[in-house]
Amino acid sequence: MSKIDIDFVRSRFIKHFDGSTGNVYASPGRINLIGEHTDYNGGFVFPGAIDKGMIAELKINGTNKVRAYSIDLKDYVEFGLNEEDAPRASWARYIFGVCREIIKRGGKISGFNTAFAGDVPMGAGMSSSAALESTYAFALNEMFDCGLDKFELAKIGQATEHNYCGVNCGIMDQFASVFGKAGSLIRLDCRSLEYQYFPFDPKGYKLVLLDSVVKHELASSAYNKRRQSCETAVAAIQKRHPEVEFLRDANMDWLKEVKEEISAEDYMRAEYVIEEIQRVLDVCDALEQGDYETVGKKMYETHHGMSKLYEVSCEELDFLNDLAKECGVTGSRVMGGGFGGCTINLVKDELYEPFVNKARESYFKQYNKHLKVYDVVISDGARRLC
Ligand code: GLA
Repeated sequence: MSKIDIDFVRSRFIKHFDGSTGNVYASPGRINLIGEHTDYNGGFVFPGAIDKGMIAELKINGTNKVRAYSIDLKDYVEFGLNEEDAPRASWARYIFGVCREIIKRGGKISGFNTAFAGDVPMGAGMSSSAALESTYAFALNEMFDCGLDKFELAKIGQATEHNYCGVNCGIMDQFASVFGKAGSLIRLDCRSLEYQYFPFDPKGYKLVLLDSVVKHELASSAYNKRRQSCETAVAAIQKRHPEVEFLRDANMDWLKEVKEEISAEDYMRAEYVIEEIQRVLDVCDALEQGDYETVGKKMYETHHGMSKLYEVSCEELDFLNDLAKECGVTGSRVMGGGFGGCTINLVKDELYEPFVNKARESYFKQYNKHLKVYDVVISDGARRLC
């Protein structure tokens, strides 16, 4: 990981607590090549862990209280482990949620001291919250010998979002953060949780993220609303095709049958999802052939769908996508939940410099904001550092 490292976190942990040291763990954020808003529809996604994430030091403290220090926010919170002890600070709720979800699964955990820091930009669509959840799920499972497998650790992070943070997310982010593997993307079937590592080393291309630095306050309620639209469409289709559990099981013909029974908005949302699930499979085929032109074309189609049908893009992200197209970039699209954050771009090596320079310049001119640029390094998932 880049800016933060073990020594940095350890020095703060020592300073903040009684001078002794504990165990240090890390988990990454993620990118996603394609397959957006498909995870909670039982579809496919194609993420990979990145070289940015969270690092935390933990030490069991012999009490029934968790004493947690956020190094980045310089904020300290203490909480108990019962349901009624939920802390108010939103960052601490992630740690509390993970503790509670482990306890609900029969894990026996007690109080601990912890300090953590991260370098996943918040609100940039790279899943800083999943990195935080996975770090603590992995660490507590090991330190308290809870015997949970990696699938369960990912589910604990997801359940934390649902039950303690108000986001009805899918499993993609936590799965990528736990299962990440250096150099490989993961093709994940979100219905069965079957997965396959795809070594990703596109010769002659680079993946680069352009962070619009736009964040939307209402992102989680808008996200939950998208999910509801999908569920409404499924309920309508189910009346004719009871075997349909997720939009993954439906097709455009079946969706068309219910066009008059659902709102135009719900219809558009479902249309996007059905097409997007197919795009992930198309991209896998294209990757197997080394056909990056098709991969890029599908990325542009995803952007179009996210912008016009799912409506989770924003003016700045559309601007960056248009710019990529104008510059001849192979593929570009808004990444993650949307409503701000990054575009992910598949760029030919020789175009990388001119594209990034042009994007910085034009973005500043248009919005008076500095674009942030991140090169993607696909890295390992949750682990103990020392
Ligand atoms: C967020 C959620 C994920 C997924 C993406 C969109 O990152 O946490 O579960 O739905 O949005 O693909």
